[in-house]
Amino acid sequence: MFKKRKEKILITGGSGFIATHLIKYLQTFDKYEITVLDIVPPKTENVKFIQASISDLSKIEPILNDIDYVFNFAAMIGVDNCANNPDAVMQVNYVDTKNLFDLCVKKCIKKIIFTSSSEVYGNSEDIPYKENAILQPISTYAKCKMMIEGYLMGISKTTKIKVGIVRFFNVYGLGQKDDFVSSIFVKAALTNEPLVIFGDGQQSRCFTYVDDAVKGVYSLFKYNKSPYEIVNIGSKFESTIENLAKIVLSSIPESKSKIVFKNYGIDNVRESYLEIKRRIPFTDKANRLLGFEAVTSIEDGVKNIAFSYVKEINTHDYFEDGRILSSN
Ligand SMILES: NC(=O)c1ccc[n+]([C@@H]2O[C@H](COP(=O)([O-])OP(=O)(O)OC[C@H]3O[C@@H](n4cnc5c(N)ncnc54)[C@H](O)[C@@H]3O)[C@@H](O)[C@H]2O)c1
Repeated sequence: MFKKRKEKILITGGSGFIATHLIKYLQTFDKYEITVLDIVPPKTENVKFIQASISDLSKIEPILNDIDYVFNFAAMIGVDNCANNPDAVMQVNYVDTKNLFDLCVKKCIKKIIFTSSSEVYGNSEDIPYKENAILQPISTYAKCKMMIEGYLMGISKTTKIKVGIVRFFNVYGLGQKDDFVSSIFVKAALTNEPLVIFGDGQQSRCFTYVDDAVKGVYSLFKYNKSPYEIVNIGSKFESTIENLAKIVLSSIPESKSKIVFKNYGIDNVRESYLEIKRRIPFTDKANRLLGFEAVTSIEDGVKNIAFSYVKEINTHDYFEDGRILSSN
């Protein structure tokens, strides 16, 4: 009996938060051979690892000879990090990313998956955000994502390469960097530090649990009926940042933390123009095309993160029935 050849996927940024969860999900199918390309080592086992930047085309070119699909997760991220380093963002998230995709064209990759962002909608008031809306990106980060989306449309029209683009809406979960709001709040609550909210806390998001997000990515990868698709990957449940803080505190009833509000533009708090006020995805396309729906409630997602931090920092006894028992 011949063993079926595994399909070969290169994941740039494969050591990062979302890609780590995606790799674990892909491995459950036992039919993919995964190569991670990242500047830092992966957190997953049973993958090939190339330590390199996406700008290092001489290292990437020979690898692509034996790759079927490229998933690009490598990027500079974080609203404040990107606002402080606009030139680096332009270099990595636009120039290097575009060069990588040119190489994919040269190597006749079958399909590219690109991770875009809900930031491309900016502060549009045309809510919920539909995939075919006129984009209004504000930050350099968002402009780079939009430009790459357009560049990939050109590639899909002029080559046989298929393109799937996910626009993620506030993905959160275990293993996320510590400078994202849900992780910040949970860590603060577990250590009795204040939960600091920028502005009045009425800015809202549709927080999307990472286990849901990776299923969305996978379903777009498997969708083959058209050469180019952009799909919002987001939860339809809206929460203000103040509500998120309250959910965190009610998930960790032992916490002595208080909610504190800080004005924009002072004390290292970002300028108000960088804040998106409401960010709500139109979710029908993902549902209709891919059968995808984000199902994890924010309460369950927060509990999962809290549980993992409790183990990590070991300051509380563990959950029972989803609750933290007591401080050590
Ligand atoms: N987390 C979210 O809510 C969210 C929302 C919208 C879009 N996205 C996009 O999803 C992707 C993954 O995001 P994440 O939250 O997992 O971020 P992350 O920072 O955890 O992962 C990004 C990975 O890319 C790597 N990387 C950075 N620059 C690189 C380079 N030049 N060459 C090779 N590797 C490089 C980093 O080392 C990191 O491992 C990014 O493209 C991001 O823009 C994420």
